[in-house]
Amino acid sequence: MAILVTGGAGYIGSVNVELLEREGFSPVVIDNLSRGHREAVADQIPFYLGNIGDREIVRRILNEHPITACMHFSAFAYVGESVEKPQMYFENNFVQTAALLDELIAAGVKQFVFSSTCATYGEPRAIPIDESHEQLPTNPYGWSKLFVEKMLSAYDKAYDLRFVALRYFNAAGATETCGEKHDPETHLIPLAIAAANGEGPELAVFGDDYQTPDGTAVRDYIHVSDLAKAHILALSHLESGGASEFINLGNGDGYSVRQVIEVVSKVVGREVPFRIAPRREGDPSQLIANASYARRVLGWQPEFPDLESIVRSAWERVAEARVAEGRTK
Ligand SMILES: NC(=O)c1ccc[n+]([C@@H]2O[C@H](COP(=O)([O-])OP(=O)(O)OC[C@H]3O[C@@H](n4cnc5c(N)ncnc54)[C@H](O)[C@@H]3O)[C@@H](O)[C@H]2O)c1
Repeated sequence: MAILVTGGAGYIGSVNVELLEREGFSPVVIDNLSRGHREAVADQIPFYLGNIGDREIVRRILNEHPITACMHFSAFAYVGESVEKPQMYFENNFVQTAALLDELIAAGVKQFVFSSTCATYGEPRAIPIDESHEQLPTNPYGWSKLFVEKMLSAYDKAYDLRFVALRYFNAAGATETCGEKHDPETHLIPLAIAAANGEGPELAVFGDDYQTPDGTAVRDYIHVSDLAKAHILALSHLESGGASEFINLGNGDGYSVRQVIEVVSKVVGREVPFRIAPRREGDPSQLIANASYARRVLGWQPEFPDLESIVRSAWERVAEARVAEGRTK
């Protein structure tokens, strides 16, 4: 089965492409490489360089491959940038997704797996957060994803599009071939690793006066391989006629920034140099998923739920790259 993977050269998309291929699917990637890396997609995978909102290129892909479903990863995903440049976020994440959906539906492709986010919930009213929690994003990034969720529901009713919108919490870790490589990097684990091994600046800890056990913000980390497995299960769910769903993807456990620092120090074998910085606007104190629905509906079972194995996998990729590039620090 040929699956269109948007954003397949990005962090999460590339891990999914790898798993799709291993599971016997035929992934076809479209990515404009604005944030991704061409080398993250193996040479044998059909790769189209372009925007998902470019109807001509999407039509060409749909003509050239027997696509049955789309996994939609492409988006801009920096909260701070979305506050400064909302136009760019609504255009890229929402307007271009609308164009992509038009072309898919016109071609009869009506199975869609969407990378949504816990940022659609906004400030949590209850922890852990389940799928029925109110959605009131606190930034344009979260709104751009929520708009797509609303569009998907309307298209299900009107055009029989069936979808699984996966609301990820914090994706982290690496596989044997794909790791996290955002530029600029804003995610805690790669930043802490870089600080520990002397290849990045001292880590800024944004706020240590939250109402949490150690005062630092608490997040739910999910291994990128476990995330990818949930996508394959979502695809099977749609393939076997399952209904459209909104599903949280997290482990259901929270770790504070200080706990992440401790685990990174242990795994890397060096202290993580850090400083306390002011809180960032719109950063909730805790984001922890109620992850039971994914287990119930998809039969999903995380293989790497503990933080240490997530950090270890990320560190192994970094360490390997350092050896390969002859870095010695
Ligand atoms: N990383 C996380 O923790 C996290 C959490 C929640 C949700 N998400 C969502 O998961 C998805 C993947 O995230 P990621 O961390 O892999 O990001 P990423 O930036 O590594 O990957 C996104 C990819 O999409 C491509 N892209 C962006 N806009 C495009 C466009 N208009 N046309 C074609 N290609 C385009 C980029 O070049 C990049 O390769 C995003 O939709 C993001 O919002 C990520």
